[in-house]
Amino acid sequence: MRNLGYVGYRPAVPVLLNSLERVTYRGYDSFGVALVDHNGIEMVKSLGTVEEHRKRAEHLQGSIGIDHTRWATVGGVSEANAHPHMDCTGDIAIVHNGDIDNFRHLKQRLQSEGHVFKSETDSEVIAHLIEAHGGRQSLVKATKKALKELEGPLAVAVLHRPSRQLVVARRESPLVIGLGEGETFVASDVPAILPYIHRVVYLEDGDIALASESGITVWNSGQEVTRSVHQVAWSADQISKAGYDHFMLKEIHEQPQAIHDTAAEGLPAAGQASATPMLPVEDPSAVLLLGCGTSYHAALLGEQVLSSMLGIPVSARVASELHEGAFQGPGSLAVAFSQSGETSDTITALRRAKDSGYRSLAITNVMGSSITRLADSTLYTRAGPEVAVASTKSFVSQVVALYLLALHLAPERAKAAGIRQQLRSLPSKVGQILANTEAIEAAARGLAPFQHMFIVAKGLGVPVAMEGALKFKEVAYLHTEGYPAGELKHGPFAMLDQNTPVIALVGNDQHRTRMLTAIKEIKARGPQVIAVADRDDAETAAFADVVIPIPRSDVFMAPVLQTVVLQLMSYYTARERGCPIDRPRNLAKSVTVP
Ligand code: M6R
Repeated sequence: MRNLGYVGYRPAVPVLLNSLERVTYRGYDSFGVALVDHNGIEMVKSLGTVEEHRKRAEHLQGSIGIDHTRWATVGGVSEANAHPHMDCTGDIAIVHNGDIDNFRHLKQRLQSEGHVFKSETDSEVIAHLIEAHGGRQSLVKATKKALKELEGPLAVAVLHRPSRQLVVARRESPLVIGLGEGETFVASDVPAILPYIHRVVYLEDGDIALASESGITVWNSGQEVTRSVHQVAWSADQISKAGYDHFMLKEIHEQPQAIHDTAAEGLPAAGQASATPMLPVEDPSAVLLLGCGTSYHAALLGEQVLSSMLGIPVSARVASELHEGAFQGPGSLAVAFSQSGETSDTITALRRAKDSGYRSLAITNVMGSSITRLADSTLYTRAGPEVAVASTKSFVSQVVALYLLALHLAPERAKAAGIRQQLRSLPSKVGQILANTEAIEAAARGLAPFQHMFIVAKGLGVPVAMEGALKFKEVAYLHTEGYPAGELKHGPFAMLDQNTPVIALVGNDQHRTRMLTAIKEIKARGPQVIAVADRDDAETAAFADVVIPIPRSDVFMAPVLQTVVLQLMSYYTARERGCPIDRPRNLAKSVTVP
């Protein structure tokens, strides 16, 4: 879900709906907008598409308003449950992103006091609670009181008819304020409002702000506070499709640049000191790597890379499944990978690691995101805004950041492994794959009719296989398992027949012979095998049915090249199957609720 708000001199509806349109490629189920005009608060809610919503809302007049895209959590998909929600008087309207953990208790209390609810959502209690605290008379004061009673993560924007005020507040859920000349914007993330602003303020946990044409006034814990203004590094062009059919394809093609820019962060000219930010602990006794989804796969790769170089315990954990036993305690370093920097599970896990005495590092793509404020220090990936739900360029940038970390923590070992030189030649190798996709497209056409598939690998290829499988599931709706090749014979062999193709990632590492044996064993059971291997690998070509060639590379960079092939293959398979690639069903770009 996304919150948006505007107060300024322009008609608010086009601003709000344009902003909303910029985030709806991510997939939402309902929309709503509310404006203050001379008659009161006018509101339009819609199911279906944002285009239909635009047609229904474009008659609304006014230059102060809020709008929202919803991804149903509490209460089904219906107009009644779509935001904004109003109080009983119709003078207060709210949009909300987050969860109200104690909403049942609050709702019962408010109902017993006579408040009438119109939706099944948790969010509606916010409007009634503000009303109950005297919101009609003093919006800021009542919002402060209401927030004290609300438990759980939230980002909320509140519109007030009598005073024509817009008040916003945040706790854990993302919220950013865009500052223009004579106008102020509110959004859950920067891309939504990029065309209008160059300066932003990131609210802190517990902040309440009054937004007006001239800017914002912020309070925290009852005191007025000042928040820094940041220049936005991204441009509006970066969130257009730039002639590509889908954002996913555009972002796959942006990877050489993303790799170059991220590597440039930590690879200064020869003879200079590393530009990688100072780590919160230089000589950790253990490293815990955290992430969800694609970011977890980067952490898994990191587990193998850093274990091989550091000689200390290194473990990767799915942030949403972290248990107490995973923590080693003081002296250890927790590294959280998160493209958005807003994933609730990752933030919670990092907070728990900090509470256990860990020092913390965030690897994220979004400046000012929540995780950067929690972590002791931050290493930014320079992938630029990632719009498609499916993570692509952010993953390869995380892998590059991981190698920068290796260079910093184990400079001698990383140097001996040639990481620095390999990173420098990586963009052009990725570029070679992108310039020649015919074989990948042909393979994707062949895969499109199937329902089940395996991607198998060994060593560093295993996280890549898992990441590839996630892409096939997410964008092509093709059930794919990413599996260690040696594990197939312990069960999944039973699934193999001519209806279950297998992609095998074959590298030039110590696992090569075992991979070739695995391919022979797989083929003996009927599946077609597509190998991803070096372009001059005649041996693999003799075993597999199809080979997708990649440029020859060193062991540590092969995962990136294999990943790019799997991204493209999942994209073209999805296209062949007619899937809504940039808007996979049931998914949102960042998951800001637990
Ligand atoms: O923003 P984050 O990197 O923290 O997001 C974590 C996952 O939700 C994300 O990687 C998700 O798995 C991707 N959409 C997969 O392509």
